[in-house]
Amino acid sequence: MTAQDLEKLLQEMSLEEKVGQMVQLSPAVYGKDSVITGPAGEVALTEEKTALIGSLLGTGDPEVIRRIQKEAVARQPHHIPMLFMLDVINGDQTIFPINLALGCSFDPDMAERTASIAAREASAAGVHVTFAPMLDLVRDARWGRVMESPGEDPTLNARIGEALVHGFQGENVGEPGRVAACLKHFAGYGAPEGGREYDNVELSEQTFRNDYLTAYQAAVDAGCRMAMTSFNTLNRVPSSANRVLCRQILRGEMGFDGVLISDYAAVEELISHGIAADRREAAKLAVEAGVDIDMMTTCYLDNLPDLVRSGEVPEALVDEAVRRILRLKNDLGLFENPYKDADAAAVQNVWCCDAFRKEARASAPETFVLLKNKENLLPLDVDTGDGSGGGEKILFAGPYLDSHALYGSWSFPNHPEEIPTLRERLEQRGDGRFLYARGCGMLPDKTVLTDHPLSDLTPAQNVEAVDAACRLAAEADRVVLFLGEHIRQTGEGASRTSLRLPEPQMELLRRVSAVNRNTIAVLFTGRPLVLREVEQLAGAVLCVWRPGTEGAQAILDVLFGETEPSGRLSMSFPRAEGQEPLYYSRFQGGRPRFSASDPKAYRIGYIDEDYWAYHAFGAGEGYTRFSYSPVSLSAAKLCGADPDRAGTDASGAAAQITAAVTLTNTGRRRGTEIVQMYLRDRTGSVVRPVRELKGFRRVTLDPGESREIPFVIAEPMLRFIRLDGTFGSEPGLFDVYIGHDSTTDNSAAFALV
Ligand code: GLC
Repeated sequence: MTAQDLEKLLQEMSLEEKVGQMVQLSPAVYGKDSVITGPAGEVALTEEKTALIGSLLGTGDPEVIRRIQKEAVARQPHHIPMLFMLDVINGDQTIFPINLALGCSFDPDMAERTASIAAREASAAGVHVTFAPMLDLVRDARWGRVMESPGEDPTLNARIGEALVHGFQGENVGEPGRVAACLKHFAGYGAPEGGREYDNVELSEQTFRNDYLTAYQAAVDAGCRMAMTSFNTLNRVPSSANRVLCRQILRGEMGFDGVLISDYAAVEELISHGIAADRREAAKLAVEAGVDIDMMTTCYLDNLPDLVRSGEVPEALVDEAVRRILRLKNDLGLFENPYKDADAAAVQNVWCCDAFRKEARASAPETFVLLKNKENLLPLDVDTGDGSGGGEKILFAGPYLDSHALYGSWSFPNHPEEIPTLRERLEQRGDGRFLYARGCGMLPDKTVLTDHPLSDLTPAQNVEAVDAACRLAAEADRVVLFLGEHIRQTGEGASRTSLRLPEPQMELLRRVSAVNRNTIAVLFTGRPLVLREVEQLAGAVLCVWRPGTEGAQAILDVLFGETEPSGRLSMSFPRAEGQEPLYYSRFQGGRPRFSASDPKAYRIGYIDEDYWAYHAFGAGEGYTRFSYSPVSLSAAKLCGADPDRAGTDASGAAAQITAAVTLTNTGRRRGTEIVQMYLRDRTGSVVRPVRELKGFRRVTLDPGESREIPFVIAEPMLRFIRLDGTFGSEPGLFDVYIGHDSTTDNSAAFALV
C-alpha cells in the first residue's frame, strides 16, 4: 500500500478498530497453544473484540500462524493482517551461543550471521518481529538476564547490537527471510538495585547517557523497527509511563520513529508500581508516554475508546500509534501477503539445516573463554585412533555430560532431545581410551528454582556418584568435568545472591582433583561466576557459556585442539559477590586502591578483597601466545576544532591520529588475538573513566607471523556528557592503550587541542 492508502485506511477505521491494533495478546485468545513468557493473566474476550486484536506473541508454528492469520484477516473489519512476534534471542531452531557469549567473540560479523540465520528460520515459521536484540548494559552478575546482553561495555554492545539488527532486518524487512528487530529493554533494565530482578534503577544523567544509551542508539541508527519499554522504574518513573524517556529521549533526541511496545503486562503493572490508580489511568499514562502496543493486557482495549470519547486522551495519540503499526505491517508486505514467508513445508528444510548447524559449530569456539590453562592441560593429547597408542586415558564426567540443555534460556527448540550431548559426540569419536561418569547431580536435591522443587540426586546418591568418578579418575591421565549453572539459574526471573557453582558440583571437583591433578573444568553458565576455588582445584578452566545446538561438538573441537577458544570476557568476573556491580571502566578516585598484597588503611575498595576483578574485561587465553610492540602514534596532537578537516594545522595538530602496534604470534600454532584499544581522558569537567574501549580487532596469525594493527582516533570518539550537560570533547591529555585486555599498560599519550 502507498502512504496515501495507509492514511485513507486509518481515516476509515473506527476508534475501536484503531485501539485493537494497539493490543498484543497470546494465541490463546484464538484457542491456540503458545509460549508463555510472563505471568499468564486470564484474558476473556468477546468474539467482536478478538476480531480487532492487531498482533500476537509466542508462536513460531507456521501452520498455527497461517490458520490464525486467515481467520483474523477475514474477521477484521478492514481485513488488516496481524503481526506475529516471538522471542528469537539466541536463534530460532538452530540455537547459537547466548548474547553474553556473542559479546565475548568481539566479532560483529559473526553476530550478524547468526541473526541472519535466525531471521530465516523465524520468518519461514511465519514470525514477523523478533523481540531482539536485548542491549541492556549489564554490570551486575547477580542479575539473571546478563546472559541476554553482549556485556558491560557500551562500545562493544553497540557494535554487536547494530550487527544483530542488520542480521535480522537486512536492508528491507519485507524481503523473504527477514524479520523486524526490537531493541530492548528501554531503558536501563540491566542496572536493577542489588542485581534484583525487576527492581528499581537509579542512574545519574551522565551514567545513563554516557553508558546506558549508547547501544540503544546504535540499534536506532541501524534502523531497528521496534523498541520495547522495560519493566523497571528509571529514577522512580516506570518506563511504560515515562514520557521524558519515551518521547523526549527515544523519539526526540535519539530519532527513533518505529513502533514502541510495552514489555509483558508492563502497562497494567503501572498500578502495582503505584503510578496508576487503576487500569484506566494505566492506559492513559502509557499512551501519553508514547507506548504504541500494550503487550498481554487489555488496558488499552478496555479503556482507550472511552478515554478518547471523554476527551481525556486526544485521538491524535491513537492515530500516531496506529499509523506506526500499519506502516510496519505495510513494510513487511503483509497487506499484499498476510502470510509473508510462513511455509510449513519449506520450514522443515530450513530449520537446523546443515549449513546453519555448521555456522553454529563454527561460531561457538569464538565465544569460549579459556580462563586458565596451567601446564597446557589443553588441548588434550589424545591418540587420533591411528593405532600409535600414544593417546591418554581420559575421564569425562559431570552433570552436563549427558545433558541436551546446552542452550540459553529464551531458546525454544522443538526437539531439545535431538541436541547432541557431549557423551554422544565423544562416543562418535570411537576412542577406546575415554571413560565416563555422571559424577554428581546438577543441583542439591529438591532445589526450588521454578514453581516446584527440582528432583536430583539425593545426598547419598551424590556420594556414590562422586566415589565412582574418583575410582575412574585414579586410572585416567586427565579428567574433564562438565559443570555449570542449571538452565533455570540463568535468564529472566533468575537473579542470584550466590555466583558459585552448585555445591554437589564443587564437591565433585574437590574430590576428583584430589585424586587426579590433571583436572579440567568446562563451565556452562549464563553469567560471570566466582571461580577462585574452582581455579585452585582445576588445572584448566574453559568457560563455554551456553553454546547452543552444536555446543557439544564445538566444545570437543576446542578440547581436542581442532580449533582454539578465541573469546575474551565481555563482562568482568568478580573475586566475590560483594564486588558487584563490577566493571572495568571505573573512576580513578581520590586515593590509591586497596590491595590485599599491600594492605594499607584508607584505600579505595574493601579490606578483605582486592579492588579489581578476578578476571578482567577483555581477558582470555588461546592455544598460542602473542607479543605486542609499544604503541606508536602518527601525531602527538589531535585537532578538536574542525574534525572534518584533513591533514594537520599550523600547530601540527592532526585531524586524525593513527595508533598502532605490531602484533606477533610467538607460539607454535596459528591463533587469534583480539587486539583491544582503550582511551583515557586524564582530566575533564566531570571525572572520566580510567579507560574506555574504543576499538577492537580479531587478528589471526601463523606462528612467527607479525602484523601492524592500526586504530584511527578522531575527535568524536572523545565526546561525552560534560558538566554543563552538553555532549562534546574537552581539550587536554589522553592516553591510548592497546593490548590483550582492559588491564594492559601498553600506552602512548596525545593531546587534544
Ligand atoms: C518478557 C521479557 C521480554 C520478552 C517479553 C515477551 O517478560 O521481559 O524480554 O520479549 O516478555 O516474551
